[in-house]
Amino acid sequence: MQSTEKRLPATMRALELQTYDQPLEALKVVEKPLPLPGPGQILVRMHAAPVNPSDLMFLHGKYGVQKPLPVVPGWEGSGVVVAAGGGLRAQALVGRRVACAATNTHDGTWAEYLVTSAENCLPLLPHVSTLRGAAMLVNPLTAWALVDMARCNQHSALVQTAAASALGAMIRRLAYRAGLTVINVVRREEQVAQLRDQGAQYVLNSTDPHFESRLREWSQRLGAKLAFDAVAGEMPGRLLQTMPHGTQVIIYGALAGDICPIDPSVFIFKQQQITGFWLVDWLRQQGVVSQMRTAFTIQRLFNTELRTGVRAAVPLEQAVRALRLYTQNMSEGKILLLPGMC
Ligand SMILES: NC(=O)c1ccc[n+]([C@@H]2O[C@H](COP(=O)([O-])OP(=O)(O)OC[C@H]3O[C@@H](n4cnc5c(N)ncnc54)[C@H](OP(=O)(O)O)[C@@H]3O)[C@@H](O)[C@H]2O)c1
Repeated sequence: MQSTEKRLPATMRALELQTYDQPLEALKVVEKPLPLPGPGQILVRMHAAPVNPSDLMFLHGKYGVQKPLPVVPGWEGSGVVVAAGGGLRAQALVGRRVACAATNTHDGTWAEYLVTSAENCLPLLPHVSTLRGAAMLVNPLTAWALVDMARCNQHSALVQTAAASALGAMIRRLAYRAGLTVINVVRREEQVAQLRDQGAQYVLNSTDPHFESRLREWSQRLGAKLAFDAVAGEMPGRLLQTMPHGTQVIIYGALAGDICPIDPSVFIFKQQQITGFWLVDWLRQQGVVSQMRTAFTIQRLFNTELRTGVRAAVPLEQAVRALRLYTQNMSEGKILLLPGMC
């Protein structure tokens, strides 16, 4: 094993999930053995890791991947590569600051150290701080992929739900840059005002009694036949009923936590379509060149179109309180866990 450290510790502090039922009560800071990287893997000393909706889904056992318990949650983060288990790519990363993602099989990022595949790491360019780089992968890549899909399919306008989210803001800025018009759907009046203050022209509150009629009018007028939906539950059915003939709804989140009741007549008589998006699959479908190009682009836009608002940065010991705070008002910015801070 190649390492930058003279002596690595034998153990590390980590936030561990004990059960998928009542996860917040089942998250504990524990001392566990330091994981060691195998061939093609690296050991990252973690600097920061965000709490994302995908982490909340994982904690409840509802994410696309479940790991055997007990397990350290956390899908992304940032830190410094302190050791490599072998392989050219892994060895080349030793000593570098990286944004990193957890594997589907090992412990996650909410710990002092992470073992992951070298392919799950992106060396950070000098203009990206290690702290901010913690949220470099999940949302920026997703926003880039979705807006690129809209652009490549020659849409000139689109609808997005959960538009006050961190990802929603990225989609809005990227779409603006690409000359696409966005109809933003939020769920609270404060969010309507907030997005208008940020310069968004089309904002609708899904709890407003005129929501459907306004969405119908705007989507017809602007020719919006594409919707990115992060809410699910009743939302896709409402979008398909209301938007023009031939609309495609892409579900990429399940914030409502509910199944989607949809009137089948929208498929028969309006030729509406519904599909899903998962970053993990999208990345798998990209060739190496495309992945490298996208990685470079998201770093270049990271402090502008793809910036993330951070609300608080807390040590692992305060994670449960921070998770509760986050779920009460998710639009207020990301919470970063700082595993190195006691
Ligand atoms: N498919 C993929 O590969 C992929 C990748 C990245 C992200 N995502 C998804 O993208 C979405 C946004 O992620 P993010 O990190 O940007 O989120 P975020 O910044 O934490 O914000 C979440 C937003 O969703 C709103 N929200 C929460 N529950 C809702 C509900 N039941 N109905 C309507 N709105 C609701 C929140 O509003 P309040 O402030 O009112 O709570 C907030 O504006 C998530 O669903 C996430 O899972 C998917």
